[in-house]
Amino acid sequence: MKDDYAKFSLKSAFQMAEEYGKNAPLSYNKYLKVPELIRLQETLSEPSSHDELLFIIIHQTYELWFKQILHEIDATLDWIKEGRLFRANHSLRSVISIEKILVAQIHLLESMAPIGFLEFRDKLNPASGFQSMQFRELEFISGAKDEKILNSFKDDEYAYGRLTKRYNSPSLADVFWKFVCGNGLATDTHEDRVNAIIAILSVPEKYAELYNMQDLLIEHDEMIVAWRSNHILMVERMLGMKHGTGGSEGVGYLTTTLAKKFFPELWEARTHLTIS
Ligand code: HEM
Repeated sequence: MKDDYAKFSLKSAFQMAEEYGKNAPLSYNKYLKVPELIRLQETLSEPSSHDELLFIIIHQTYELWFKQILHEIDATLDWIKEGRLFRANHSLRSVISIEKILVAQIHLLESMAPIGFLEFRDKLNPASGFQSMQFRELEFISGAKDEKILNSFKDDEYAYGRLTKRYNSPSLADVFWKFVCGNGLATDTHEDRVNAIIAILSVPEKYAELYNMQDLLIEHDEMIVAWRSNHILMVERMLGMKHGTGGSEGVGYLTTTLAKKFFPELWEARTHLTIS
C-alpha cells in the first residue's frame, strides 16, 4: 500500500512538473519549482533508513542559506568599495540573521538517535561536510583563504573553478581594511589596523557607520565560530571520537578549526581598549 502511494506520488510529481513548465499559469508551485525541489532528496539506504531524509534536508537547507549569504556578501563588497556603508551594513545584518538560524538549526540533527544515524552512515563514505564548496566559499570570501583546502577540491572541476575565483578575489576583510586605510585611519600594518579599531571603539558616534560595520563583522565572525562549536558538540554526541567519513580524526580535527577568525584585529583591539 505504502509502495503504491509512493509510486503514484512520484508519477504524478513528474507529470505535474512537466505541466508546470508548459502552459499552466504562474502559481506558487510553478514559480518556486516545488515539484522539482521535493524530488531532490534521494536516500541511499536500502531499505530506506527513517532519519536519512532529515539528514539530506538539513544539508540541502544549509546549502541554500549559504547561497543567500554569498549573494549578500558579494553585494556588500561592492557597496563598501562604493563607500555605501549604510547599505553594506544593511546586508551584513541580513547575513547575521541567517547565521543565527544556521547556528540553531544544527541541533535538529540531535533528534536522530546515534543508532539511527549509524544505519545509513556507511553509505555516505567518503562524502563529508569537509567538501561543502559553498561553506569554503563563505570562508574564502570572508577572509580565511586556505590553499590546502582549495587544492583538496582539485578533482571537482566545478567546485575548484568557483573556489579558485574566490581565492583570487578580494575578501570582505580585504575590502574592509582597504576602506579603513583609504580613510586615513590606518596604514596597512597589523598594528595600525588594531589601533584604527581602538580609535573607532573609543568614540562610536564619531565613526557611526564604521562602528556599526566593525560590530557586524565581529558578529559574523562570532556566528561562524558558534556554528563550528555547535557542529562539533553535535558530532561528538552522534559519533563520539570516531573518525569522519571525510577521513579526518573527527572531533579532534574539528576542534582545531575553532581558532579560525576572519577579523583577528577586531578581537585584538578589545584587549587594548581603555577609557582615556
Ligand atoms: C550527523 C550529522 C553530521 C556529522 C556526524 C558530521 C560530521 C563531521 C565530521 C566528522 C567532519 C570532519 C571531516 C570528516 O572527516 O568528515 C565534518 C566536517 C564538516 N561538516 Fe559535518 N557533520 C554532520 C552534519 C553537518 C551539517 C548539517 C553540516 C552543514 C552544512 C555540516 C558541515 C560540515 C562542514 C562545513 C565541515 C568542514 C568543517 C571544517 O573543516 O572547518 N556537517 N562533519
